[in-house]
Amino acid sequence: MPEFVGAVDQGTTSSRFMIFDHAGNQVAMHQLEHTQILPRPGWVEHDPVEIWERTDSVMQNAFRQGGLSPADLVAIGITNQRETTVVWDRRTGRPYYNAIVWQDTRTDSIAAALERDGHGEVIRRKAGLPPATYFSGGKIKWILENVEGVRADAEQGHAIFGTTDCWVLWNLTGGPDGGIHATDVTNASRTMLMNLETLDWDDELLALFGIPRAMLPVISPSSHAGAYGTARTSGPLRTAVPITGVLGDQHAATVGQVCFAPGEAKNTYGTGNFLVLNTGTTLVRSRHGLLSTVAYQFGDSPAVYALEGSIAVTGSAVQWLRDQLKIIDSAPEVERLARTVDDSEGVYFVPAFSGLFAPYWRSDARGAIVGLARYHTNGHLARATLEAICYQSRDVVEAMEQDSGVHLDVLKVDGGVTANDLCMQTQADVLGVPVSRPVVAETTALGAAYAAGLATGFWRDEDELRLHWQESKRWEPSWTEERRAEGYAGWQKAVQRTLDWVD
Ligand code: G3P
Repeated sequence: MPEFVGAVDQGTTSSRFMIFDHAGNQVAMHQLEHTQILPRPGWVEHDPVEIWERTDSVMQNAFRQGGLSPADLVAIGITNQRETTVVWDRRTGRPYYNAIVWQDTRTDSIAAALERDGHGEVIRRKAGLPPATYFSGGKIKWILENVEGVRADAEQGHAIFGTTDCWVLWNLTGGPDGGIHATDVTNASRTMLMNLETLDWDDELLALFGIPRAMLPVISPSSHAGAYGTARTSGPLRTAVPITGVLGDQHAATVGQVCFAPGEAKNTYGTGNFLVLNTGTTLVRSRHGLLSTVAYQFGDSPAVYALEGSIAVTGSAVQWLRDQLKIIDSAPEVERLARTVDDSEGVYFVPAFSGLFAPYWRSDARGAIVGLARYHTNGHLARATLEAICYQSRDVVEAMEQDSGVHLDVLKVDGGVTANDLCMQTQADVLGVPVSRPVVAETTALGAAYAAGLATGFWRDEDELRLHWQESKRWEPSWTEERRAEGYAGWQKAVQRTLDWVD
């Protein structure tokens, strides 16, 4: 009898495959990074073929590492970096262009034109999103307009679009030989093309971007026994394992953190930070710069919605210290460097490398380091980088409390940066609420496994999953109110500088 569930997590910097047992424990994992292609300032691309090859390898390696075979899996879930756009030829499986990554700002003029021409309102109302470079719609339009032959092929149904869940699913289920072209409601809700109420592609939105409907995948629930087919037997798994869960990574982390009740929230610390608050089956519209999005949809149940505060650059600011400034050799080393000083002593770093996302939505903002004196060291910059992660999260928590009236008693956190003790302590200090991390910090892959396992009956319901959640560590706030207020006021002044820069 199969006893495990597998999850592909196709992220911004790496792809991994994890295998979980019935108690939600991780029993095997393999992970491989892929190349970040940075052709010009503001442009970020991935090679979709490399992504698929890495996904194939991590699956093989995880089975080997765990001493398991695909026949041990009840089902597979897929989760992914969202919004990143791939357009490929369904006849050959060849991408027409590199994947345009969610952080890429080349579509700035497309987003600005939509706002200028008065279309911002309809996009906000129907898709729950402001026109911004972040989402897929503008990226598809850019490919249609800039890559030769794509528009004609799209109109004939040859050129098809997908986010990376869809690209992986299509390849896993057969590629040009009958691959399934489907995505789920959460990924579709990040395109600016799906109507949040009907949960279908919206003709008015498609017309605004000039995108032919024939390019788009079928939208299905995030957890479903029949929507996503089975792995092809000629593929990496060599076994027809059912694929029964698909959802964007932040939605998967919400599920992995068992935030199933309205008012429950999680904050994931990855390349960026993403705070998601479950608002139940009610679609709440933000008045303070948050996104309305689908949290998840299980089977035939109604969709559950969420408010999201998306921050573009948090963990990737640490990577910038490592790769561009070269003041650390590895990302975890930032904690040691930051601990060489007690305080950032007036230095603020606003890493607006992709403009500023929530709650500002200013794609024209650019990064700034302010408050420098000759006295300051790399240690202060490292500390200011960690504080920037925490202050940006405070910006979205403030917006969320204003929008929803929900006051967070505790912030549930997950993701790579939560291994950084100093950063998590600073987060509790900056927010003035405790921060709590679960035993399984890989909640993204776990959430995709949960979605897949719920569809097959491997797990009965949400209540059963709640029993798996256990706290591993909690950080209590230690700053005085005065210090907290002073620190945040300085941050707000620094953010203002990144906006003034372009005014
Ligand atoms: O919206 C982008 C987000 O899904 C990316 O997440 O963890 O790959 O940086 P991550």
